[in-house]
Amino acid sequence: VTALAQRLIERKRDGGRIEPGEWRALTNAYAAGHVPDYQMAAFLMAAYIRGLDRAETSSLTDAMLSTGAHLSLEHLGIGRVDKHSTGGVGDKVSLVLAPLVASLGVAVPMMSGRGLGHTGGTLDKLESIPGFRTTLSLADATRQIERIGCAMLGQSAEIAPADRKMYALRDATSTVESIPLIAASIMSKKLAEGLSGLVLDVKRGSGAFLPELDRGLELARTMIDLGVDRGCAVVALITAMDRPLGRACGNALEVEEAIHTLRGEGPPDVLGVVYALGAEMLVLGGAAPSLDAARRAMEVAVSSGKAARKFEEIIDAQGGNAAVVDDPSVLPQAGACELFLAPRAGVVACVEPRAVGRGVTALGGGRTRIEDSVDPSVGFVITAKPGDVVQNGEPLATVFARDRAGIDAGLTTLRRAIAIADEAEPPLPLISHRVTSAGVTPFEHA
Ligand code: URA
Repeated sequence: VTALAQRLIERKRDGGRIEPGEWRALTNAYAAGHVPDYQMAAFLMAAYIRGLDRAETSSLTDAMLSTGAHLSLEHLGIGRVDKHSTGGVGDKVSLVLAPLVASLGVAVPMMSGRGLGHTGGTLDKLESIPGFRTTLSLADATRQIERIGCAMLGQSAEIAPADRKMYALRDATSTVESIPLIAASIMSKKLAEGLSGLVLDVKRGSGAFLPELDRGLELARTMIDLGVDRGCAVVALITAMDRPLGRACGNALEVEEAIHTLRGEGPPDVLGVVYALGAEMLVLGGAAPSLDAARRAMEVAVSSGKAARKFEEIIDAQGGNAAVVDDPSVLPQAGACELFLAPRAGVVACVEPRAVGRGVTALGGGRTRIEDSVDPSVGFVITAKPGDVVQNGEPLATVFARDRAGIDAGLTTLRRAIAIADEAEPPLPLISHRVTSAGVTPFEHA
């Protein structure tokens, strides 16, 4: 197989195509440890530079998917829908969506990741709830979904193991930002959940992995094609990541904000993205006849406390302290906190998400190496939004840190991240486009 790998590296390097059987052979051999990392790294760099056409992207997705197991949930007789986000700062939407949508009769096998680069990860956020376990086997996840309609888990060794290895290699060899490689990687995991529908939150703006709208749309279309070809309906919304989503950035702080949102008391932008994505999930899952009806059903689930009760069930099923839903003070608390005050009067011109995300990591709330542990208590609550008019000395944010040195580092981050000027460009619309297999349309609010 090392001779096969060498031939395929040469062909991709020279701009040639790889056939379906060859993708299968290469991927299986790599997953089994018969192709060394150095050959796969060279191949991935060739693929990154030369690109993959639609058929090749499809073959790679199938090849990675078939290296692992998958969830079988058809017997439930209801829609099975998940959401995927391309990654953001302050994006706690999954924590709200999973219980909300499950409380309305759609099965939600929600598979999430850890923080990556400047972005946060749902698994790290969930693990700030004392006792919460995210390492469920597929058998455990199936039983839990049968019982309560939802499980929130990480990619285990059972799911698309070839992707797991390749993704770690891409991360270390600067070959992540390739649309076909990203699309195949994400969809190989999502399709392993046995979904009938998938909703994508594709971020645009300075804090997104692909900041340009055109690239986000291309990623959305590529993933939609992969899903639709395999019987999984996919809808994508393009949402803003030129500023953090909501106010809280940091693991436990985001769980607290998610709980407020689940009760209808969260920041309007978080609630806006939750309702827009949730409406798509409910319609795809066959639990609502229209996006408007879905939105009304969600409002009732939030105001009646039904969605919050579902979150308690999920937390309890996964070993966590469900009392957090009524009393977020059971979450780990930071040792020190301090307000950040506006250094001048003016208009908030930007709250730079990459700077904020890196600032959370610098406080100990994210990783720079895979083996790092995460301090769940630290982060920022930033109440200032682009476009706000502020006075000199007005509180704009709070830093949560372990100690005085952390507070000082956090204040320095905020001085860099929050720009105040005499005038400001308007920020990106919160949700700008809706993408389906039929094409791209401007997003219309319900
Ligand atoms: N997330 C993934 O799972 N895979 C990628 O390639 C990029 C982001």
